[in-house]
Amino acid sequence: MSMYDTTQVSYLIRRPGGCGLVRSADLPIRQGCLAKRPRCEHAHDMTAHHGAHAHNHGHTHTHPGTQQPDWDAFAPLLEQGAELHTPVYDQAIAWLRERFAASDGSVRRVLDVGSGPGVVTCLLARAFPDAEVVAVDGTPALLERARERAARLGLGGRVTTVHAELPEGLDPATIGTADLIWSSKTVHHLGDQLAALRRLAAALRPGGLLALGEGGLPTRFLPRDAGLGRPDLPARLEAIQAERFAEMRAELPDATETVEDWPGLLTAAGLTGATSRSFLLDLPAPLGAAGRDFLRNELVRWREAAADRLDDGDLATLDRLLDPDDEAGIMRRPDAFLLTAQTFHVAAREE
Ligand SMILES: C[S@@+](CC[C@H](N)C(=O)[O-])C[C@H]1O[C@@H](n2cnc3c(N)ncnc32)[C@H](O)[C@@H]1O
Repeated sequence: MSMYDTTQVSYLIRRPGGCGLVRSADLPIRQGCLAKRPRCEHAHDMTAHHGAHAHNHGHTHTHPGTQQPDWDAFAPLLEQGAELHTPVYDQAIAWLRERFAASDGSVRRVLDVGSGPGVVTCLLARAFPDAEVVAVDGTPALLERARERAARLGLGGRVTTVHAELPEGLDPATIGTADLIWSSKTVHHLGDQLAALRRLAAALRPGGLLALGEGGLPTRFLPRDAGLGRPDLPARLEAIQAERFAEMRAELPDATETVEDWPGLLTAAGLTGATSRSFLLDLPAPLGAAGRDFLRNELVRWREAAADRLDDGDLATLDRLLDPDDEAGIMRRPDAFLLTAQTFHVAAREE
């Protein structure tokens, strides 16, 4: 029995001509009864998020009244983040190449499920030069970015996209089968994570690998005491993000509580030899321009998510960190750094 069975959760309705969904009166609702994930229906100004002085121009990264990400609004940040985290993905992909080399396995078809803007899709295409690589995602604007990137990098002949709503779209009739399925930071957006892994496992060819990017370490970016406001602001932001994450999961269709033992879940999905490794992104102080720009955009998002849960002192600290003209701001201070790790869990379908 799930703790959500008797919870009062918000019923979501579409607002004609507006952005996504609005909250109506709280109504009792059965577990898993929420409508499909919200979608924004108006055009987004993608360029508004670019550049060192980018801020959100009043547009938020979640659909109003929910904790569900607005992926259109996220697009620039996803792309910038994936580019910055390329050293992490390169290490994880090198590990996969070693795994295939050790088993003499050939890689002819790769699926990047929840590809986002296709940064990793293109890294996969480079790393597996004999493979057709397919970006699978539910957000058309992100798939468009993936196609543009592949064309720009001369990979357009081998990179294709499939628009699919998950988990239903994880059907071999929609996505086909593959020797390698990569899915990073996506399964946690699906209500029943084990069911999704079972579907992913079913799309693997015998001997194929599923590489799941889930978990790791939160991003660290300032000393504990940064000489600005109360120490430990990053830890308080992390705690709020953890609360928001749990709320986001509880809202998902078919939300199911799962012990997030990823190797155990891959095994329960019928795969063998589940192994986990974590890879570091270590950009020490003084951080370069690209790292600062990403961090500032992340801080905009974190401030937005935490605004109603932080005290005035912490909000004032965040405002100073965001001010591009402030010596103590993230764009100028000498002690800003970026340190994080992402974990990948890999398991095989038996020959
Ligand atoms: C956090 S992003 C991860 C992007 C990329 N894999 C990365 O690691 O940077 C999650 C991606 O999953 C997609 N996504 C989330 N829920 C989905 C669903 N229910 N159906 C289809 N795509 C979904 C979003 O559009 C987004 O591109």
